[in-house]
Amino acid sequence: MVQTVHNECRERTPEEQYALLEQVIGDYAADEKNLIQILHMAQAIFGYLPLPVQRFVAEKMDIPLSRVSGVVTFYSFFSTQPKGRHTIQICLGTACYVRGGKKIVEKLTQTLGVGVGETTKDGRFSLQVMRCIGACGLAPAISINGKVFKRVNPNRIQEILDEFE
Ligand code: FES
Repeated sequence: MVQTVHNECRERTPEEQYALLEQVIGDYAADEKNLIQILHMAQAIFGYLPLPVQRFVAEKMDIPLSRVSGVVTFYSFFSTQPKGRHTIQICLGTACYVRGGKKIVEKLTQTLGVGVGETTKDGRFSLQVMRCIGACGLAPAISINGKVFKRVNPNRIQEILDEFE
């Protein structure tokens, strides 16, 4: 007997993504007080929150697009760009900031040619800043895909990046 194998993990088509999002909005009763939850789910479905997705949420919830965009840009955990293969998080907590965190931001934005919150054109890196990653004693620190690099020297950033294809 021939068995058909259904791959449940295949990527959803855009139509399926929007249908799922509409269902999520319905589950949350399209209530504005649930907007952040809905946007979290939307980001889980699409991977990020581009303008068409924000517009869809606004229309289905019957609220202004500016309200949705305002929330998306306010919270750093929302992204309007697709995520890169590797996520760099630069710590700008107090210890890291005073010990050169800002120089690391400058060096990384220069080296990668993107700003904070952006993804490189080749999709290799996304750049973010965050507060404390628990390595204050060995500041300044950055984390890439959760791996923490301590006492980072801005002049040796390239060596660190080379570890991540
Ligand atoms: S302030 Fe950067 S690790 Fe704590």
